[in-house]
Amino acid sequence: MTGLPTTVPEWVHLVEVGPRDGLQNERVRVATATKVHFVEALVAAGLRRIEVSSFVHPRAVPQLADAEAVFAALRPADGVRFSALVPNQRGLERALAAGVRDIAVFTAASDTFVQHNIRMTLAESLRHFAPVVQRALDAGLAVRGYVSAVFGCPYEGSVSPEQGIVVARSLLDMGCGEISIGDTIGVATPGDVARWLGAAHAAGLPFDRLALHFHDTRGTALANVMAGLQHGIRTFDASAGGLGGCPFAPGASGNLATEDLVYALHGLGFATGVDLAGLVAASGVLAGELDHLLPGRYFQAARVQGCLPANGPPSTG
Ligand code: COA
Ligand code: ZN
Repeated sequence: MTGLPTTVPEWVHLVEVGPRDGLQNERVRVATATKVHFVEALVAAGLRRIEVSSFVHPRAVPQLADAEAVFAALRPADGVRFSALVPNQRGLERALAAGVRDIAVFTAASDTFVQHNIRMTLAESLRHFAPVVQRALDAGLAVRGYVSAVFGCPYEGSVSPEQGIVVARSLLDMGCGEISIGDTIGVATPGDVARWLGAAHAAGLPFDRLALHFHDTRGTALANVMAGLQHGIRTFDASAGGLGGCPFAPGASGNLATEDLVYALHGLGFATGVDLAGLVAASGVLAGELDHLLPGRYFQAARVQGCLPANGPPSTG
């Protein structure tokens, strides 16, 4: 007997998307300094992959028009990857000039969704992103590909697993190192996730290069993560406090709250490297700046139990 634990906890990797996917749908404009404070608090809480902003057209997402200023103000942190969304060559140039080393490109499983988002068809989007990804890879960047509306589309309704799988395969073939499979409008159930992953497995998609990205519109996001875990996925996207939505997906509400995810994962015995109290404090940086309560359940519970400074709007139930 050495007294050492006989099992080492398995890791689940988190990609914090609150500063980008979360903030892009908030009506109240958040000051650059507050965003920087938020991201630094997320780093202090132990998050190691943080999507910080978007180099999209400032008119498309005014909330993130200060991407350059946010990156300029962020202090590099050991082992932390700060990423940015990039819609085209112009966005990539801006990201490179800002010193960004991790980018994400994005398309969707549904043609109409892509047209609303970036004004091109799905097939055009794949042709459009290929040289952007190639140039990023040549510059030594890591590239993630997002596939939105995988489990349902606000415009087209149901989406078959094959549609998302084909798009994910194209992005992998293009050179994306990781693909984030998105339930942008929060319609998926654990059964849908199990069916999708079953089809993806049969199609040979590499599960160690897939992440799952759930919005909690219908309260199924955490259950969907459990289905993902059971099928071997170990990377999940989430937003601190449950911030989020998508201005290009009517009715979409926030991402799965990072606190709720971390709480459940730790309870299952997984390691995440994240300190929950620190995470609640990071969400607290934004709580008082928005025109609504943060929806994350763990965050709300921590607030009610007095673990937070009283800087959020009053609880109205
Ligand atoms: N950053 C800043 N400016 C940009 C830009 C970028 N990434 N891409 C294009 N522009 C500018 C061009 O320089 C051009 O400026 P000019 O008129 O002064 O010459 C103008 O925008 C129009 O360029 P164009 O290539 O025709 O772009 P567009 O107007 O068709 O916009 C997108 C296309 C993709 C850039 C825009 O729709 C967009 O940014 N969408 C973001 C969608 C998003 O963020 N989705 C979030 C994921 S859910
Ligand atoms: Zn999203």
